[in-house]
Parts: sequence; C-alpha cells; structure tokens
Amino acid sequence: MKKEEQTGIPRRMFLHGIGTAGVVMGVAGLTSRACAADVPRDSGGKVIPGFEKSGKTAPADGKGWRSVSNRKVRVGIAGYGLCRFGAQFFFDKHPNVEVVAVTDLDPGRCAGLAKACQCDKTYPSCEEMIKDDKIEAVFIATDAPSHARLAVEALKHGKHAASAVPAVFGPNAEKDAEMLLKAVKTSGRKYMLFETSAFHSDCYALRQQYQAGALGKLIYSEGEYYHYKDRTLGSYNPKTGKIDGNGWRRGLPPMWYPTHSTAYYVSISGGRLTEVSCLGMPSIVDHLKPANNSYQNPFGTEVALFKTSEGGMSRMAVGWDMPIAHGEKGRVYGQKLGYEPKVNRTRPPLPPGVSGGGHGGSHGYLMNDFIESILLDRKPVVDVGDALNMTIAGVVAHRSALNGGKWMKVPQYEL
Ligand SMILES: NC(=O)c1ccc[n+]([C@@H]2O[C@H](COP(=O)([O-])OP(=O)(O)OC[C@H]3O[C@@H](n4cnc5c(N)ncnc54)[C@H](O)[C@@H]3O)[C@@H](O)[C@H]2O)c1
Repeated sequence: MKKEEQTGIPRRMFLHGIGTAGVVMGVAGLTSRACAADVPRDSGGKVIPGFEKSGKTAPADGKGWRSVSNRKVRVGIAGYGLCRFGAQFFFDKHPNVEVVAVTDLDPGRCAGLAKACQCDKTYPSCEEMIKDDKIEAVFIATDAPSHARLAVEALKHGKHAASAVPAVFGPNAEKDAEMLLKAVKTSGRKYMLFETSAFHSDCYALRQQYQAGALGKLIYSEGEYYHYKDRTLGSYNPKTGKIDGNGWRRGLPPMWYPTHSTAYYVSISGGRLTEVSCLGMPSIVDHLKPANNSYQNPFGTEVALFKTSEGGMSRMAVGWDMPIAHGEKGRVYGQKLGYEPKVNRTRPPLPPGVSGGGHGGSHGYLMNDFIESILLDRKPVVDVGDALNMTIAGVVAHRSALNGGKWMKVPQYEL
C-alpha cells in the first residue's frame, strides 16, 4: 500500500504544508493542521466532491432572513476528520446558536475544530461531551459506524441530536435503527439527519411542488451518487486512531451509503421505499474486491429498483468504480405537470454570516433547519423516520445484490 493511501494525506501537503513541528506531533495531529488552510482533499490531493466552491451557494448577507426566536441553542459538535465535517455547517455563525463545546478523539483534530468554531471548551470524546448539562443539542460528524450509538447516547442524555449521514451502518443497521427510534420516542427530543441532497436547490423545489400537490403521486423517481474512488479515501481507523486507508471507507458497499440517492424520493415526497431488488457487478478496483476489505464487499456500483409506499417505482444507484460518473443528483416524475406558479421554489434566506456552503449549497440550510426545528418544536426536514428509511433501504438493497437481486422487504421504522 502506498504511503498516501495509508494516511489519507496528500503527498504535496507533506512536502509543502508540514514542518518539523508537525512531524513531532504525529500524523493524526497533522491532519487538522494540514487541512485547516485548505478544503478537504482526497489522498490524491483532489478536492473531495461536494466541497468544491459552488455557484449555487447562498450569500451570507442575511438579507430577508427573520429570526424565529431570541434565544440561543447551546450546541456541542463532535468530529473533525478527513472532511473536517464538524466545522462545515456554520453553527458558530448562527445568531440563535452558541457553540459551547467541541470534541474529537484526536487532540490535534480537536484543537483544529475548537479553532474553526471559535470555541474554548473541548472534551476528549463525544461520550464525555454528552454529559455536559449546559449542552442542549449535539451535531455528530464522527465516523459513519459510530453515528447511531452516539446519537442514542445524546438523546438518552436529553439532548437534541443531528447526525452526518448515514443514520445507521451496515450489519448493525436494523438493531441500531430500533435503538435510535426508541431513543427519539422516549426522549421527545429532535433527531435530524444532515442529508445534503435534501437541500439541493432542485430537491428543495420539488419538495415544495410535491407538498403543494402540483406533482400528484410520484410514478417514478431516480437518485444517483457517483464518486469514483480508484483508491480508498482516508477515514477514521479505530485500530490506529488515525485517518488512514484502512478506516471505515475501505471497500464500503455502495448501498451502505445510500442517502444522497434515496433522498431524491424520501425527502421530496415524505413517502417510503418498501421493497427492493438490487444488482451489483464485481469491481476491478483493488479495495473493492472482497479479499481486500473487511466487509467482504465485491461491488463498486450497485443499482436498486424499489417499490414505493405510493405504489410507484424508484431507481437508486450508488457507484464508486465508474471513472466518468460523478455527482449527487436525481429527478422525479409525477402524475401531474409539476408546476404550481404560486409555490415559492426558491430556498429561503439564511441568517447573516451563514452561507449555503458545500454540497450544492446545502450545509447552511441543514444547520438552520435543525436549529429552527428545536426553537419552533417542529419536524426537522429529515426526521428519524425519513432518515431510517433512506438508510435502511440501502442496507437491504446491498443484501439483495449479494443474493443476485432477490426481492426483499424494507423494514419500516416510524415515529
Ligand atoms: N455529503 C455528506 O453528507 C458528507 C460528506 C462528507 C462526509 N460525510 C460524513 O461525515 C462524517 C465525517 O466524515 P470524515 O470524512 O471527516 O470522517 P473520518 O472518518 O475521517 O473522521 C471521523 C472523526 O471522528 C472522530 N471520532 C470518532 N469517534 C469519536 C468520538 N467517540 N468522539 C469524538 N470524536 C470521534 C475521529 O477521531 C475522526 O477525527 C462521516 O460519517 C461521513 O459519512 C457526509
């Protein structure tokens, strides 16, 4: 394995961005220092798709925005890994938020997150941070396998919880889904999945149209998440504590990361994916061969056909091994024309200082929606039922692909 792949840090960063002091701190500590001056990049030095500058990003001028409350929600943030995700959502800029604490298991990354969020208080782990009585809400941007466990812990401690995608992970998905649903119901707190496709401008516009009845039922929908990975992206490796090539992203079954696609049905209609038949093709990419990843996953691309709760059809695809395929996109086709002129399809203004940010200008909207759902005691745009359907649908799809496309029921988890 190449050195770059082991660390997930581009070679040019080693050459240009890191001095002797960095070498003394060790690779884990360096990741945040190296990244602080730059956008998240893959092991080849390319900007990770979704983090490039986008013309669709809303300006941070606050024009037209109205606060729904005078109070500030006290937030704790966990996770500053390869994508430095804890600092990507502008929590520290929102007039109704006070970031009271941050955490990452790695001290260097934790310090990087504290600096990025302009927050003095740090904890050595999310588990410790969750015990802080001052904190009302947490944002969990840790490695994917830990999301459900940490969200459940936070809810049990009476906190509202928002999580990066996916909501639950791989082999434990159904068990974790039950625990998460129970924790949301018992605590009465908000849970939201920060699914970035849900606030793409096209997805937002289609949701508005659908909810106004302009589309009728959705006959057919499609979603795609294509991100070519000839080498695995770095990610948190619990065995080393580092961001390296043997973390949770190595050989990840595509449909275990389904929500950028499945959002193009679930977050538009609020409906559910109910049954699935999925196919995959054995990959020629090294880390996507079953002998080379801990998931024994053979597939680099999986394509699923779902039945929907409206009686319609939905085709959702995730691909890591098609070099020319790229992007998070989708489309829906309803029974009606799909245009109701009175419906405002433009994403609303954001608070001053908060821009749309990455992934199609969705970051600021997701954060603002979570905060307003707490302040107004309303459903967040992707609540626990939506989040679990979007995620579990993919987990079952991968199972179907391993079984040659056998039709399987998607278990349902509802509030
Ligand atoms: N478009 C999107 O929605 C999008 C894009 C990129 C990343 N993500 C998601 O964001 C999350 C973070 O991505 P990443 O690439 O930075 O991940 P990563 O694996 O590189 O880093 C995870 C970080 O979490 C920290 N961590 C793990 N357990 C912890 C704990 N108990 N307490 C405190 N810190 C802990 C690790 O030390 C590490 O720094 C992932 O789940 C990923 O799926 C979503």
